[in-house]
Amino acid sequence: SELGETADTFASLLTVIATPSTNEELLGRIAAIDAPHALLAEHQSAGRGRRGRDWHSPMGASLYLSVAWPLDLPVAGLSGLSLAAGLAVAESVDATCGLRTGLKWPNDLYVDNKKIGGILVEVSGSPEGPCKAVVGIGLNCRLPDDDNDTISQPWTDLYRACGRPVDRNSLAVSILKSLAVNLPRFEHQGFAPFMESWNQRDILKDQPVTLMLGAETANGVARGVNDFGALLLDQNGTQRSVAGGDVSLRPA
Ligand code: BTN
Repeated sequence: SELGETADTFASLLTVIATPSTNEELLGRIAAIDAPHALLAEHQSAGRGRRGRDWHSPMGASLYLSVAWPLDLPVAGLSGLSLAAGLAVAESVDATCGLRTGLKWPNDLYVDNKKIGGILVEVSGSPEGPCKAVVGIGLNCRLPDDDNDTISQPWTDLYRACGRPVDRNSLAVSILKSLAVNLPRFEHQGFAPFMESWNQRDILKDQPVTLMLGAETANGVARGVNDFGALLLDQNGTQRSVAGGDVSLRPA
């Protein structure tokens, strides 16, 4: 089967009906993980987004997918990892659903100017040593109409964007295959090989943006990302790069 092709890469691919969070579940047993593992859930009771936000995870309505991936890199070498993962998801969505998915720095997926999914990378490891990344992917497939009340930003889903139901299994397989290419490439070559493709999907390119950097507010014009996945911010002709802060670290 299609799924069989991923067997070379993943030591396990498990689907559960419900879990608090697929990321949390893999992080909880990360110490015992020494090969790539994948976990899908039909529902999450405590799904989480970036910056401590909740990720609304109704039953059967989305893809809730996490992969745990040991990397022979120090944590400092991970900048751009979540962007490379986002690119893998965007390419799979386009191939499976015939869309042109945009990326919003650092790792949101957009279709029709509305958010369709996001990536949350969490890392286990010491600063110097090799680490293990958990890459969590939330991708809206067919959310209930009344989720307008729950989600605080413009959103869409694959059903609305394609006008037909999307097979979540095909999509998951496509994403897993794509991650199985991009994550080793990132491990060996960093973000540089992904930079151009990422910039072609950048929905913020040449747009005025305001970034909250801790206490500081930085205004400028977004000029894409550099070969570390940092956002290039043009402030009246002076270019500055802003690192993603795209991984949240846990002690090993
Ligand atoms: C974001 O845009 O804020 C990132 C959302 C990431 C959601 C996914 S769903 C699967 C995995 N498990 C979680 O608890 N979160 C990620």
